[in-house]
Amino acid sequence: MRRGDKAQAEVTPLSLYLRRREFLALGAGSMVGARAVARVALASETELPRLTGVRNSPYSTEEEPTPYKDVTSYNNYYEFGTDKADPAAHAGSFRTRPWTVAFEGEIAKPQTVAIDELLSWFTLEERVYRMRCVEAWSMVIPWVGFPLADLVKRLAPTPKAEYVAFTSVFDPSQMPGQRRGTLNWPYVEGLRLDEAMHPLALLAVGLYGRVLPNQNGAPLRLVVPWKYGFKGIKAITKVRFVSKEPPTTWSRMAPSEYGFYANVNPAVDHPRWSQARERRIGEFFKRPTLPFNGYADQVAHLYDGMDLRRHY
Ligand code: MTE
Repeated sequence: MRRGDKAQAEVTPLSLYLRRREFLALGAGSMVGARAVARVALASETELPRLTGVRNSPYSTEEEPTPYKDVTSYNNYYEFGTDKADPAAHAGSFRTRPWTVAFEGEIAKPQTVAIDELLSWFTLEERVYRMRCVEAWSMVIPWVGFPLADLVKRLAPTPKAEYVAFTSVFDPSQMPGQRRGTLNWPYVEGLRLDEAMHPLALLAVGLYGRVLPNQNGAPLRLVVPWKYGFKGIKAITKVRFVSKEPPTTWSRMAPSEYGFYANVNPAVDHPRWSQARERRIGEFFKRPTLPFNGYADQVAHLYDGMDLRRHY
């Protein structure tokens, strides 16, 4: 789908579609074996339903989006393996319904909400964002989602809430990576409350106008375009409002390499490589990396007075 081309054609409602897909996968599996299951899973990647009622956002970059194929086949999602091709190869049959998200901690009304109810609370927006991975590659991705700030406001944090802690699903039966000790499971991430309230912070449920592919973090993932990609926690099941800085998976694994803030900063080298340049997937020549990934005008004030060499 191209931006501006908002086809509002009737499509199968998402929940119905997902139930049907699960039914097909089960049926095919029991009747004709694993190869048929693989084919259903593969077909589903190109048949993900369109999301309707999506409005355009003034926050989109005009840069050319990275092709859908690259966005959905070059991924970091260690629950499905450490190779960039593993998530697309192994996440196809991951079940994203039923799915609940627990909202906990310092908020007016802690509650657990089914994903489809959560979606009914918000109008979806398309936001085309530059994304920069700490591994020095980047993409431009047309996300579909809703502002995290809208969710935070609705949950009404108490005065004690200073950070938001996110937790990914823990399901070793479905996630082969969680049967190995590659990372501390489940994957966790966090934002300061004012970062979470920033209008650029997005909770994504789709990309390219369609339902989010499993390898990109379905059914719900965080997108923070001024930070390195690892902040974008996938398959979120818990959001907890807390008073202290929460642990994050990568800073726990390698504190000298990955900090809590993870702001894109070309002036500070990663201990093992430079952060000054990046390779936009699909391009040959590297391009300079911009402070805050090009979003400095909007977000730099959040870090006034902080030493961003220390708080990396
Ligand atoms: N979330 C979970 N649960 N597990 C992961 O391994 N990888 C992170 C982030 N979110 C990761 C995760 C990293 S390192 C990156 S760069 C982005 O997801 C990649 O998102 P993408 O595959 O949609 O580009």
